Amino acid sequence: MIKIDLDNLPQHIAVIMDGNGRWAQQHTIGRIRGHRKGAQAVRTIIKSCREIGIKHLTLFAFSVENWERPVEEVNALMSLLEEYLTKEINELHKQGIKLSFIGDTKRLNPAIREKLRLAREMTSKNDKMILNLALSYGGRDEIIHAVKKIVSDHAEGKIAVSDITKENFNKYLNTAGMPDPDLLIRTSGEYRISNFLLWQMAYTELYFTKVLWPDFSKDDLFMAIASYQKRERRFGLTSEQLKEENIRTGNRTNV
Ligand code: IPE
Ligand code: IPE
Ligand code: MG
Repeated sequence: MIKIDLDNLPQHIAVIMDGNGRWAQQHTIGRIRGHRKGAQAVRTIIKSCREIGIKHLTLFAFSVENWERPVEEVNALMSLLEEYLTKEINELHKQGIKLSFIGDTKRLNPAIREKLRLAREMTSKNDKMILNLALSYGGRDEIIHAVKKIVSDHAEGKIAVSDITKENFNKYLNTAGMPDPDLLIRTSGEYRISNFLLWQMAYTELYFTKVLWPDFSKDDLFMAIASYQKRERRFGLTSEQLKEENIRTGNRTNV
């Protein structure tokens, strides 16, 4: 069992769950079955994060670019999503998890949208952990959407140019009200961001592992958190400044 410091957890973990297709190939089964196995790993990771006290978990389940995959695969992913929402919602609710969704969910079919609405409504009062699913999500699309809304609010006199600050810009994003991710995990050995949370990841610690998503276990999660806890997050400052700041405020960091 990997040791982690429960007093120094990332408050927000984001995950690019990649490698279902390659996992299926390794097991000489179809990609769809790889996705099904990936859904099991989702279950495990949510439960583990909830148990140790992670407050926000964002999972990249379907990107806006993924719509371009073969129609059979897109349909299978959508059925799997619908099935997942139907089967898991009671358990998530029981665990005190609040569900939220980011992305262009209007592109999802009406049955799924209705499930999202119900899940959001049912779990809205829960406060143990926020599970944020990125569906039909694209970071650049999100930023453009925010810019359009700011321009239209400006035209209506709702926001002055001088009020377009980093803090206010955050309010126009899908993730409004959520802290930025402290830790990003990407599985499957790819070293890229793939249009995920571009604005929000300005100072996120990145962790890449070769493990394919369906194999990603609680130990792998703990390994990622342990790596995060060894890092010094400097936010542009010097190490000495951070230490002085810590002595002054008595704050903990990952030093
Ligand atoms: C991640 O696995 C799941 C989605 C993107 C929906 P992939 O399907 O991308 O798996 P690989 O990258 O082909 O192995
Ligand atoms: C990123 O994985 C999207 C999700 C995990 C949902 P992709 O498999 O789509 O990313 P690329 O194509 O390797 O960049
Ligand atoms: Mg992939």
